[in-house]
Amino acid sequence: MVYDSATAVETDTIIRTENTSIYYGDFKAVSGVNLDIYRNKVTAFIGPSGCGKSTVLRCFNRTNDLIPGCRVEGRVTFHGEDLYSKDIDPVQVRRRIGMVFQKPNPFPKSVYDNIAYGARINRYPGNMDELVERSLRRASLWDDVKDKLQASGLSLSGGQQQRLCIARAIAVEPEVVLMDEPCSALDPISTLKIEELMNDLKQLYTIIIVTHNMQQATRVADYTAFYNAQEAKGGKMGYLVEVLPTDELFNNPKEQSTKDYVTGRFG
Ligand SMILES: Nc1ncnc2c1ncn2[C@@H]1O[C@H](COP(=O)(O)OP(=O)(O)OP(=O)(O)O)[C@@H](O)[C@H]1O
Ligand SMILES: [Mg+2]
Repeated sequence: MVYDSATAVETDTIIRTENTSIYYGDFKAVSGVNLDIYRNKVTAFIGPSGCGKSTVLRCFNRTNDLIPGCRVEGRVTFHGEDLYSKDIDPVQVRRRIGMVFQKPNPFPKSVYDNIAYGARINRYPGNMDELVERSLRRASLWDDVKDKLQASGLSLSGGQQQRLCIARAIAVEPEVVLMDEPCSALDPISTLKIEELMNDLKQLYTIIIVTHNMQQATRVADYTAFYNAQEAKGGKMGYLVEVLPTDELFNNPKEQSTKDYVTGRFG
């Protein structure tokens, strides 16, 4: 347990990285990240393009494993357990730590089947209709789709498709939802809906969001982590500059480079 100066309550760490570096082949893309992610909070990752935000995010649910040559050094723990230990099944990790991508990617199946898909694979023992409705309600999509559950997920608008992907991610009851620029392909109204949704979802889940939109970070995130990159052998190497309660990171950061970035004087 740690003391959370943002809300003056005790919160617990759900994911922790200890001196974590991530390589693509010989290229060290991210170096020495030490970071705690707190349960039922929204943490935003910000920083210039190529500084490793997506790379760090992917290492939390082992989707980096699917990239040939990608390697993680140091420790990444989930509830104190080493996520990269040989005893851990990456498929189970991805069930407990779900992911939503930049571009909405519903399956070419009905709205209903998009949600039921993961539950069927996991042999969900409960009532499937109830699970589908609950997941769609949690993703603020039920009212939009309740009369077209058999329509293709691909027939929905972009913003609805992204909420469908969020509903699909939460249908398997994960503990953490990773979101990599989930609003960057969406119009402002759909973006606002997803931001509101994040506020509701954090009661139930821990959320980590990568965003290029700093206003978005200030609107949704309890904590914000600023990453930067520096010249190194083989290309730019990313590193975590600092992570602070969002308000503090934007208004009173410890590091000059953070101040330059958040005030637009960067680079
Ligand atoms: N699949 C991959 N294979 C090889 N190198 C990669 C791969 N994915 C990312 N990289 C490299 O790792 C570094 C970090 O990339 P990453 O995509 O994590 O950055 P990012 O901060 O998410 O950038 P952006 O804001 O543009 O999405 C970059 O130098 C990138 O070229
Ligand atoms: Mg990225």
